[in-house]
Amino acid sequence: MKPNAAILGIETSCDDTAAAVVRDGKLLSSVVSTQLEHADWGGVVPELASRAHERAIVPVVDRALREAGLHRTDLDAVAVTIGPGLVGSLLVGVSFAKALSLGLGIPLVGVNHLDGHLASLFLEGQGPAFPHACLIVSGGHTQIMRVDAPGQTRLLGRTRDDAAGEAFDKVGKLLGLPYPGGPEIDRRAANGDPSFQAFPRTRLAGYDLSFSGIKTAVLYHLNAVPEEKRAAYMEQHMDDLCASFQEAVVDMLVAPVKKAMRDEGLQELGLVGGVSANSRLRNRLTELVSSWGGTLHVPPLAYCMDNAAMIAMAGFQLWREGVESPLTITADPSLALG
Ligand code: KG4
Ligand code: ZN
Repeated sequence: MKPNAAILGIETSCDDTAAAVVRDGKLLSSVVSTQLEHADWGGVVPELASRAHERAIVPVVDRALREAGLHRTDLDAVAVTIGPGLVGSLLVGVSFAKALSLGLGIPLVGVNHLDGHLASLFLEGQGPAFPHACLIVSGGHTQIMRVDAPGQTRLLGRTRDDAAGEAFDKVGKLLGLPYPGGPEIDRRAANGDPSFQAFPRTRLAGYDLSFSGIKTAVLYHLNAVPEEKRAAYMEQHMDDLCASFQEAVVDMLVAPVKKAMRDEGLQELGLVGGVSANSRLRNRLTELVSSWGGTLHVPPLAYCMDNAAMIAMAGFQLWREGVESPLTITADPSLALG
């Protein structure tokens, strides 16, 4: 293996166009361009997303290379997210990466977006020892993984319906909060009473999760208030409602993680994805793993959200093992992990 190998990572699975460079396992640059096109729609519009990726991809990659102090010809491999995600968005990154691989005569490494989130634990510091558990929790995903080595994972549990971040965003919308609801609910919950309303906690057999019930429970709770009094009720109790909802979601996340880690005999836990920014979730999981002497590993916030640094790192880990993808590889919107 060549020392100091430089890997370019590209990520376009949803609404962020991102590129990053990792050299010899160290992050040199990370650029994320977040699309503002979706703000008025309350969610990501796939057609707008792919067009925006097309406009952003060249300047974003150029900037990542410039900030790394490298030229295209210095690259040893190009890693790209091949799924899961929005197919039109994925195709922009995959096509661009193939063209670079072909033009520069360097290997292409297709990366599962979720393997990228798992690799984000190694962008700073040592990261957890193997094997470890990892909770991937974002607007698109909620999964509990067992990670035996880079790229060697087993799915332990997953949401059967909405992702936890989606539940935060949908409930944020019900409460009239700005999109995305997650950060706003977290902020308001800090001043609220989590026992104000005992929203039901859905518990499934095994380690699976479900967040559709809690969303409906919040809706019914609000609808039970007479319409003419609802706005005033929400204004008066907004912080308490946020705290009560958040506590229920955190309870539903912590319970299966605890069970899965106990059953699998795992001590170390990674927490990745956008919802890992949630302060209550971090506190509760820290309490949980320290109760058996383990450590909770959370990447810096910038690498919890979607980014290309994690794709470059996952690409580096795979490339180091000799993994290379054929140029016939295609985007797979429902690519599974584990
Ligand atoms: O990983 P990410 O950037 O994109 C996806 O792949 O989905 O995650 C975004 C999600 C959104 O649903 C957002 O509401 C949620 O992460 N989020 C939070 C917090 N910060 C972001 N949810 C709860 N508490 C937070 N502090
Ligand atoms: Zn993600």
